[in-house]
Amino acid sequence: MSKQRVLTGITTSGTPHLGNYVGAIRPAIEASRSGDFESFFFLADYHSLIKSQDPEMVHRSTMEIAATWLALGLDPDKVTFYRQSDIPEISELTWFLTCMTAKGLMNRAHAYKGAVQANEELGEDADHGINMGLFSYPILMAADILMFNAHKIPVGRDQIQHVEMARDVAQRFNHHYGEHFVLPAAVVDDNVAVLQGLDGRKMSKSYGNTIPLFLTEKQLKKHINKIKTNLLEPGEAKDPDSSAVFQIWKAFATEAQTAEMREQFANGIAWGEAKKQLFELVNAQLADARDRYEILMQDPAKIEKILQQGAEKARTESQALIAKVRHAVGIRPLV
Ligand code: TRP
Repeated sequence: MSKQRVLTGITTSGTPHLGNYVGAIRPAIEASRSGDFESFFFLADYHSLIKSQDPEMVHRSTMEIAATWLALGLDPDKVTFYRQSDIPEISELTWFLTCMTAKGLMNRAHAYKGAVQANEELGEDADHGINMGLFSYPILMAADILMFNAHKIPVGRDQIQHVEMARDVAQRFNHHYGEHFVLPAAVVDDNVAVLQGLDGRKMSKSYGNTIPLFLTEKQLKKHINKIKTNLLEPGEAKDPDSSAVFQIWKAFATEAQTAEMREQFANGIAWGEAKKQLFELVNAQLADARDRYEILMQDPAKIEKILQQGAEKARTESQALIAKVRHAVGIRPLV
């Protein structure tokens, strides 16, 4: 039996941070190394345009994210690693799927509903500032997934609904035009940590509380020192489980190191000392990848070449699929 396919996309609208690393990048690269699956990873640059209309940001983020995954050990010979916009068949499939998607289904998408609700709370028109990209975003995501007949889609909780929508759309297409698509399923790993950010809320670009993944040592130290703590003095016992310092420690440490730190908290470790140890732990783990990242960032031609090779691999699949789908919907040569 052929291997199960795993596929996931990374929106190119920001600089990768420790939360992305621990929650998505590290587990994805580890899984791809096991050889148990056929992995597809791509830079979702079409998706980034929904939120960011800053061309320099989109461009820069594409390079940073590609360099990050490669620096952390993603092996482009073992996986298919590509940029969404290099696969023109994805846009074409998006249209075919758009015509098979009930508008009512899109009305129910959380991202769109959340934006409408925010407008209503502010007394704005319901659709104020909402573009059609946001509204039909789940269809583009369905095309990403169905194009490669992926079975498993590792995502965060906020994306489960989108994968379910991809499944609905696939079902509808298959029912009407014949079996063309595998029905995908979301995979949410409850064991991966969701990191707290500098202010104790979930680390997220939208809260502006992140620690970027590849900082200089000096900047990394500075960021770690900014993690919010309480006013307990050295010598006073501290609660590890409510502390972002401890939680980030846990995401990088071995079990033994975690147990040791827990004990140090009970013994009243000073916040400054805990942060110093955290810096040393994180820095040591990222140092080699950081060097590789810096080298890659100086060599965009190399990254571009890797992406082109990935696109070539991906397109052998996408071209074959789109030919079948075109035929199925009745878009065919006349003779
Ligand atoms: N929408 C996803 C996110 O914001 C990124 C994404 C785009 C994606 N296409 C995908 C994830 C296909 C999984 C599969 O995180």
